[in-house]
Amino acid sequence: MDILLRLTLLYTLALIALLPLEHVVCSRHGQWGGRRKLGSGGNEDLVTNLPGQPHADFRHYAGYVTVNETNGRAIFYWFYEAINPDEKPLVLWLNGGPGCSSVGYGATQEIGPFLVDIDGQGLKFNNFSWNREANMLFLESPVGVGFSYSNTTSDYENLGDDFTANDAYTFLQNWFTKFPSYRTRTFYIAGESYAGKYVPELAELIHDRNQDPSLHIDLKGILLGNPETSDAEDWRGMVDYAWSHAVISDETHKIIRESCDFNSNDTWSNKDCSEAVDELLKQYNEIDIYSLYTSVCIGSTASSHDGSMQTMAKRASKMMPRMMGGYDPCLDGYAKAFYNAPDVQKALHVSDGHRLKNWSICNTKIFNDWSDSKPSVIPIYKKLIAAGLRIWVYSGDTDGRVPVLSTRYSLSSLGLPITKPWRPWYHEKQVSGWIQEYEGLTFATFRGAGHAVPCFKPSNSLAFFSAFLLGKSLPSIR
Ligand SMILES: *[C@@H]1O[C@H](CO)[C@@H](O)[C@H](O)[C@H]1NC(C)=O
Ligand SMILES: *[C@@H]1O[C@H](CO)[C@@H](O)[C@H](O)[C@H]1NC(C)=O
Ligand SMILES: *[C@@H]1O[C@H](CO)[C@@H](O)[C@H](O)[C@H]1NC(C)=O
Ligand SMILES: *[C@@H]1O[C@H](CO)[C@@H](O)[C@H](O)[C@H]1NC(C)=O
Ligand SMILES: *[C@@H]1O[C@H](CO)[C@@H](O)[C@H](O)[C@H]1NC(C)=O
Repeated sequence: MDILLRLTLLYTLALIALLPLEHVVCSRHGQWGGRRKLGSGGNEDLVTNLPGQPHADFRHYAGYVTVNETNGRAIFYWFYEAINPDEKPLVLWLNGGPGCSSVGYGATQEIGPFLVDIDGQGLKFNNFSWNREANMLFLESPVGVGFSYSNTTSDYENLGDDFTANDAYTFLQNWFTKFPSYRTRTFYIAGESYAGKYVPELAELIHDRNQDPSLHIDLKGILLGNPETSDAEDWRGMVDYAWSHAVISDETHKIIRESCDFNSNDTWSNKDCSEAVDELLKQYNEIDIYSLYTSVCIGSTASSHDGSMQTMAKRASKMMPRMMGGYDPCLDGYAKAFYNAPDVQKALHVSDGHRLKNWSICNTKIFNDWSDSKPSVIPIYKKLIAAGLRIWVYSGDTDGRVPVLSTRYSLSSLGLPITKPWRPWYHEKQVSGWIQEYEGLTFATFRGAGHAVPCFKPSNSLAFFSAFLLGKSLPSIR
């Protein structure tokens, strides 16, 4: 692809990613009452006076963990204990980007107990928070994301999949020294979008390092939502989905099918291919690629047009439009207002309330400069399946960004034997989606959910999460 075309393409991707929405479609839920019971633990990271926080029956902690003393790298975490913390497993949640915050998306827009409210001033209680079922740990990873930082700026030039997995691993080991009661706890890793790469990569690292008993982490499984898995399959799925959901014409689809070789490292040098894919992205620019059937925001505040678009032209020839992790960019703005408030930063132990950190939900520079991305994590799936880990993959079926077809193409390349064939699964007497179980892997869809599934289907998602933790089949009768 010539540089101009690529610039247009990437610019379009950037617009898709950064387009602010005004309509807040994510539903909000009332207060979750109950007895106050404090869990075990307690240290200087305990959060005691978070502005606008609703009443909670559990403890939560936030702060930094140093992952590299030489270079001065520190990762920010927010940890919500479950109601009966000692009886529940530990789950690490990661969002993608790369460059996006798991605190800004996962914790405060999707599955955490406190969701950022629409005025950016306070928080609302989430009655379907996943900390009902597990102790939930959210990381801003790698350094450069959210509050996480490095004192050595050259670190930011070396960010990639391996760097991220290594720092996340070191984070976990150091975090366990802060929270020793979780050291031997049953552990799972979950995430969505580009975390489709992070999660298996970290799981593999844990699996390998577990050879040393002193480092052992009791990793039992991974959970992946609309995950990027294998670039070639993800692209093919994105194209076929756009066509089958009437976003592009038969003609454009035909050109892409005939001229694009997504297995090549030089996909965009084919002019027909790159023009047709550009056309696809142009159509998605008109709607919300992360949620095909909901409205976009008209007008609204300026998005982050800060010149970072220029760097997009420097990207490798075969790049995925992998922005962003989250669903509703209007909420992104509220999150930004909330996390940049001095008293919030003080309560979360990221600043003294005077010298503030500059928090944003996604760091576009990280996205642009990402230097190491595994083209496929399918080989890691094979290794983890062989190791006996529980692997569940779910997909909101109205997402155009990492659509259900991409995931099905990727999973089918594993060639796993089917143990329980395709069937509906139910929640509250309705079909919540479809499910197919394989030897070593479970795949399920969420009917009518976009990219960030829990945002659209909070109650269904919590039920699904609970079944995953128990390793129990989803309800197959009404
Ligand atoms: C919260 O969820 C629980 C269990 O799902 C339910 O019993 C309760 O009524 C809900 N509370 C509110 C305020 O929605
Ligand atoms: C700290 O980070 C640097 C750069 O990533 C690396 O070369 C070094 O080995 C790390 N130090 C430790 C103790 O891990
Ligand atoms: C980074 O530098 C600041 C200022 O010198 C220091 O306070 C902080 O502890 C350093 N962070 C790490 C992780 O070493
Ligand atoms: C594509 O990959 C091949 C084999 O790894 C390599 O020789 C070639 O230089 C690559 N081409 C581009 C454009 O990166
Ligand atoms: C925070 O970063 C944004 C760009 O990401 C910049 O425009 C703004 O001036 C920064 N604010 C502070 C207080 O440094």
